[in-house]
Amino acid sequence: MSAPLGLVVLVSGSGTNLQALLDAAAGGAPFTVLAVGADRDGTRGEERAREVDIPTFVCRVPDYVSRSDWDLDLERQVSAYAPDVVVSAGFMKILGPAVLAAHPVLNTHPALLPSFPGAHAVRDALAHGVRVTGCTCHWVDAGVDTGAIVDQRAVDVEDDDTVDTLHERIKVEERAMLVDVLTALARDRSRIPGRAG
Ligand code: GRF
Repeated sequence: MSAPLGLVVLVSGSGTNLQALLDAAAGGAPFTVLAVGADRDGTRGEERAREVDIPTFVCRVPDYVSRSDWDLDLERQVSAYAPDVVVSAGFMKILGPAVLAAHPVLNTHPALLPSFPGAHAVRDALAHGVRVTGCTCHWVDAGVDTGAIVDQRAVDVEDDDTVDTLHERIKVEERAMLVDVLTALARDRSRIPGRAG
């Protein structure tokens, strides 16, 4: 049996996607969370990692002279754990070229891309009046939510949905999708960009 797929997970908020990965790994999924990074102090996501003794780091854009210095230092901190895949799970920063050149980065997005990219996907989908939305798991490239799609799950919009109720239902699908995608990648590593297999 090969070693579990090593992940560094990047978070900005509540970290429920991270929690789904931690629970799945504890339940025998073929991946492991090596470390969790956040772009701000005091996130629930960072706390979730600490609760199970997983190393954490915080890399805040305002602490650097330039965005490019932030990118370089984030790359240094992520690379210290030598992950097979970096997972952007609710990380609300656009990653820079240093991180993207060094690691395959998988992102989860709360809409059916290419519809509704960006930071307000659920609000935008609801405002547009779509009857079906969902979530997308994709590789990160230099654009905003433009990279190759790995998996998608659909979610019906209900007449009385608010941004919060819709987002919560999407997140149920998103967490399951992320676990499924990483399980599949761990079993067939040739599907990870830049890996020969
Ligand atoms: C997810 O819906 C993610 O796609 C979006 O923010 C949410 C993060 O949720 N960018 P959580 O922090 O994993 O609970």
